[in-house]
Amino acid sequence: MKILLNDLDDPKVKVAGNFMYPGFVLAGTDRALMIDCGLNILGPLYLKSLGDILGPGKPLDYLFLTHSHYDHLGAAPYLKRKMPSLGIGGHEKIEHLMGRESVIRRMTELGDIQRPLFPGLEEDDTSLGPLTLDLKLRDGDVIDLGGLRCEVYAAPGHTADSMAYFFPEVSALFPGEAIGVPEGLDGVGVQVEFLSSVEDYIATIKRLEELKPKRIYMAHAWAFTGEDARNFFPHSLEETEKYRALIEKYLEEAGGDAGRAVETMARVEYDEKGTIFQERNAYLVNLRAQVALIASGNK
Ligand SMILES: [Fe+2]
Repeated sequence: MKILLNDLDDPKVKVAGNFMYPGFVLAGTDRALMIDCGLNILGPLYLKSLGDILGPGKPLDYLFLTHSHYDHLGAAPYLKRKMPSLGIGGHEKIEHLMGRESVIRRMTELGDIQRPLFPGLEEDDTSLGPLTLDLKLRDGDVIDLGGLRCEVYAAPGHTADSMAYFFPEVSALFPGEAIGVPEGLDGVGVQVEFLSSVEDYIATIKRLEELKPKRIYMAHAWAFTGEDARNFFPHSLEETEKYRALIEKYLEEAGGDAGRAVETMARVEYDEKGTIFQERNAYLVNLRAQVALIASGNK
């Protein structure tokens, strides 16, 4: 089944914030954990959801990040300011990246662009800044929440710092964008997401497929269960090969000029076809990285 996160009715997994930028909350008998925390401007929304989900006075113990993109960790500095005891975990590269002023500036711009989509947000200081990791997570780490374990998988390819989280007791996988993202109003398409390495991306999809998750909680909008969860992996691999070939075609037509290939591809694939629902600036950032990767010979 494909379930819109707005309609998710799951005893173990709750959605904090907005279904397009979900923070997934799971609680064991001892501790509670949230995975990702989208845009910085949505900070107050996550905080409110956490109160509703966990109940008054119950703390969130951990916030684990799937990767270093503005729409996955944007509210982390805000949440840490509000909950100083929060243990933030992720790949160690995240900390380094968040220490760069240019990164903070760009993330702030990308968050601000989305402000008109969320009218009536509570006013608060949601500014981004450096982020210290309390847990530098590594492949193979296991965090016990009490009757519910979180297994950590390094999942490079989308970014070098991508991590996926798997909960064996409920067979639930939280891949971030490491295996692609369902696309379109019906979630039937796959947005291909290799930004740091095509080969790593393909290897990650194959490795996470081995877990045979019964449920996959996608980074945006959707949860897939049963057969749809199973089928997502081969479908995503197939779309990856197609997308790589498409970029190669545009690069060839542009005589190897990556800038021109991006321009034409954005016009034809995004503007004219109009079937990509990703915000245009974010689409362009990703496309530039993907075209540059293929142009540099990382196939
Ligand atoms: Fe991402």
